[in-house]
Amino acid sequence: MESNSIGYVNAPIPKEVDLKAEINRMRKEKNAIILSHYYQTGAIQDIADFVGDSLALAQWATKTKADIIVLCGVHFMGETAKILSPDKKVLVPDLNAGCSLADSCPAPEFEAFVKAHPGHTVISYVNTTAAVKAVTDIVVTSTNAKQIVESLPKDEKIIFGPDRNLGNYINSITGRNMLLWDGACHVHELFSLEKILELKKQYPEAELIAHPECKQPILTIADFVGSTAALIKHTTQSAKKQFIVATESGVIHDMRKKSPDKEFIPAPPNDSTCACNECNFMRLNTMEKLYNCLKFELPEIHVDENVRKKAVRPILKMLEISEKLGL
Ligand code: 13P
Ligand code: SF4
Repeated sequence: MESNSIGYVNAPIPKEVDLKAEINRMRKEKNAIILSHYYQTGAIQDIADFVGDSLALAQWATKTKADIIVLCGVHFMGETAKILSPDKKVLVPDLNAGCSLADSCPAPEFEAFVKAHPGHTVISYVNTTAAVKAVTDIVVTSTNAKQIVESLPKDEKIIFGPDRNLGNYINSITGRNMLLWDGACHVHELFSLEKILELKKQYPEAELIAHPECKQPILTIADFVGSTAALIKHTTQSAKKQFIVATESGVIHDMRKKSPDKEFIPAPPNDSTCACNECNFMRLNTMEKLYNCLKFELPEIHVDENVRKKAVRPILKMLEISEKLGL
């Protein structure tokens, strides 16, 4: 069975197959672990061995003793797991699960940008291809970006890519003047300030919480800004009972599980009639594709060994600093 050019296995699944039971049976039989990002569907989050943000998924990829890692997330997450665990088989249910932010930073252009600005430490967000990581000094995620930037001397010249919103936000809270790559995530850039302001009027008691990939005007009016994991933690700790959530709406599944007595209102995007904002790439993974992926052990992530050897260094550096900082 091939995943071929369509990027996933589309073998027909008989109606009588109990997907959950079969996925559970196969993962035991194959010594496979299912890792899920918080932006996956509720069904995938519920069946995963572990649900986490980008940092936690990378940390798990180094820890697991499984022979197979099924990464239910987007391509760069599978690639990061493969870079860290080259001897394991790393599968992603649908290889078409890309990332507009990673796509906004093609490796040849980024490398030219780095060469045009010598003497800079290169910090890249984990939402990048292996080839971009290969020309990076330290990888960061939204959970550790501030602390990692602050761990460098105050006068260190830094290039930060690819997310201009996260970069601007880190500059504003650290007082640094990092040189920014001009990239962005289409999901987080799409939130409508106008509609959010209307929601704030409608829910005056609600806290507005936002991911730092959102545009600056939204971050300015947010009551709390943080990574996926930080937003979830905040909703469990805050005394507030209502939250307007300006990030991919998949996180609300976990927020509701952790705080069933609280209300979560997804922040709306500006260009549709839809009330919430989903990452179309993340949502390409389905329970059916997960089932076929485990059954046929396809599609698999491969990383060129020369690129991998260069890309692993900045990721390990991030994991090392994060461990020291207790993140
Ligand atoms: P985190 O998981 O680091 O919060 O990143 C959010 C994101 O956009 C993942 O693609
Ligand atoms: Fe990429 Fe944005 Fe989707 Fe995250 S939400 S995977 S940054 S496109």
